[in-house]
Formats: sequence, C-alpha cells, structure tokens
Amino acid sequence: MRNIAVLGSLWGDEGKGHITHFLSSQYDWVIRFGGGANAGHTIYRNGKKYVHNLLPSIDFTQEHIKGFLGSGMVLDLEQLLKEVVTAEQDFSNVGSRLVVDPDAFVVLPEHKATDKANNGHIGSTNRGIGPAYADKVMRKGVRVIDLMQNNNEQINALMNAGVQFKSALELKSEFARSRLLFEGAQGILLDLNHGIYPYVSCGDATVAGIAACGFASVKLDKVYGVAKCYTTKVGEGPFPTELHGDEAEALRKRGNEYGATTGRPRRVGWLDLPALKYACAKGGINSLIVTKFDILAGMGDIPVARAYDRELKYSKDFFDAKPQYVNVSGWEGIKDDESFHKMIDFIDYIENQINIPVEMISRGIHKEDILEV
Ligand code: IMP
Ligand code: MG
Repeated sequence: MRNIAVLGSLWGDEGKGHITHFLSSQYDWVIRFGGGANAGHTIYRNGKKYVHNLLPSIDFTQEHIKGFLGSGMVLDLEQLLKEVVTAEQDFSNVGSRLVVDPDAFVVLPEHKATDKANNGHIGSTNRGIGPAYADKVMRKGVRVIDLMQNNNEQINALMNAGVQFKSALELKSEFARSRLLFEGAQGILLDLNHGIYPYVSCGDATVAGIAACGFASVKLDKVYGVAKCYTTKVGEGPFPTELHGDEAEALRKRGNEYGATTGRPRRVGWLDLPALKYACAKGGINSLIVTKFDILAGMGDIPVARAYDRELKYSKDFFDAKPQYVNVSGWEGIKDDESFHKMIDFIDYIENQINIPVEMISRGIHKEDILEV
C-alpha cells in the first residue's frame, strides 16, 4: 500500500510505536502530524528498549526511511536534539534523515511551567502541550521558522546534527513519489475535537490532523487503528470499563502498564467495543491492529464490553456510561496453535460486533511477534 496511517484508537499507548516500527521498512517516510513530546512510543530494537517522544518510530537499520515532523506538532527542540543524539549512539545518520516543518510551533520553557502549575484535574504529562497549542490559537505562538530567522542556538544544534528544515509544500513532489506512513500520537478519545472533552490532549489524533498538516491531497489507502485486547488510560476522565483494586493491580503488573513518558501507573480495564466503534467512526479508522495478546494468556475467559446502557451520540455520553459485558473464551499460551485459534476467535468476535476488520495482531514486544491475520 502506498500511503497509510497508524492511529491510536482509544487513549493512546496501544502500541503504535511497535507497529509503526514494524511497518516502516515498507515506507519511505514516517510522518508525525500531531501532538509533541507528550507521546511515548516504545520500540524494542535487538532487545533494547527505546522510547521516542518526538522522533518518528522508524526502523533506523533501514537507511531508506526518512522522518518528517509536520506543522501540526508542537516541538520541544531540546528534547528533539536529545532524542537524535541518543539514537545516534546506536544508529547512523539519524539526524540527517530527519526533516522538520518550519511551520510547526515550538514548546517553550514557560509552556511546561504553565502546564505544571495548571493541569491538576486533567492529568497532563506536563510537556507544555496544552499551553503551546493555546498560544497558537491565541495567535501569539512561536513557530520553528521564527527561531530560524533569529540565529537560535537549538536550531543551530539540530542543523549541526544534520536535521533539515523544509515544509510539506517544499517536499510536495518528493512526497508524491514516495510511500508515506503517518504515525498518529495519543488516541482518538484524547483528540481535542473528538475525544472525551475536557479530558483530552490538544493535538489532532484523527485523520483530520494529516490533512491539517499540509497533506490534504494525499490519498490514504488504509487507516489502521491500534487497539489493545484490553484497555488502558493515563490521566483523568471517564473510563467505562475500568477495573479497580487487586484485579486492576494484577492486570497492570502483567501488562507492565506504566506510562512511557511519565512512568505513572496506567489505569486498566477490559476491551471496550462501544468505545472502539465510536473511535473508528470519529477517527476515520477502517482497519484494526490488536496488540498485547501475550498479556492475557492463561487468564481464562476474558470479559469484553459489547454495549453500553445508552447509545453513544456525543462524547458526553461516555460520562457515567455502564458497560454490559460478555465473556469471550481466552487462550492458555502465546505461540501454540490452539492459543492462536482462540485469538482468532476473539478477533472474529470484535469484527462481528463493530464491523471493522482486524488485519494484524501482536503477541509480544519484538517485530517477529506481529502477525497478519
Ligand atoms: P497532555 O497532552 O500532556 O496535556 O495530557 C492531556 C491528557 O492526555 C492526559 O490525560 C494525559 O495523560 C493524556 N496523554 C497525553 N499524551 C498521551 C499519550 O501519548 N499516551 C497516553 N495518554 C496521553
Ligand atoms: Mg505511549
């Protein structure tokens, strides 16, 4: 496929980094279009763990893949430089394969300070995302290009590391000849417009963010939504299938559900099909990739929310929604045939309930653990 998107379907942390890294070798560009260093994309390369906040989840062993940071993002340039320098300890030409759109906005130290002082009830990552987008909307934001015109130290350091600064418009003909993978950040339920407001981030997590970033004429052949076979959330706000107490603690430990960016324990719960259906419709998702099948192995039957006590028409409907569960047969192991067939039955159930195909599953943290189904 020529152009695809990989989006987080619910509250992020579904494994976009892992999936994007796996798929990236078939693409020429991996493009981030929304959010900033609030994202935490975890990738295992040769057994070593990497967390990217701003760098696209590229397989850096493949020299042909380049990364683009689009104008819809808010960029902490110091953090970006740190990530480039860290990645260059293990891979060559990381900086020189990275292009930043000068129309992107910048996260300044005062944005991070404001986040810390203000965020209280939302549970922000304190990376300055909300305040930077707020300044953009107030028409007093600072763009990368403003710093480029002022002999800025961070821009110079990035240029010395090989990073280039070009807009989506300047690269239009190159993008038209290339295979593009758009890597989302956060998830549809954290999208500023379509998430569960006010418990949202401030970037675009849906396909709309791709168009908004200068790619309005790009045709997407597929929009993947990544979902876990259970659900997690960091930060405050409604979470209808949330577990509490010992049951929550056990699942959190099994799944190692601690925030990649902040280290906070993630809230955990069961797979939520009404939320997933809502997110696919709102986000433009037309195919699913379901991850973390290894985590639920040996747990017996698995509760899945098949409906709520109400129809979801507005994001407000998530507040106080009561899920109705069914138990779906679980799997004992991870790689044996019988367990694989149970996993297929589980995804058949999802497909039938929400009418979206599941095209890949992941049964572990390595590239080899991802299968087309
Ligand atoms: P902010 O984007 O840091 O302001 O955070 C707003 C809300 O989105 C908080 O509930 C965060 O925990 C959540 N959030 C932001 N980025 C991510 C992410 O990449 N994964 C999961 N949750 C996120
Ligand atoms: Mg994450």
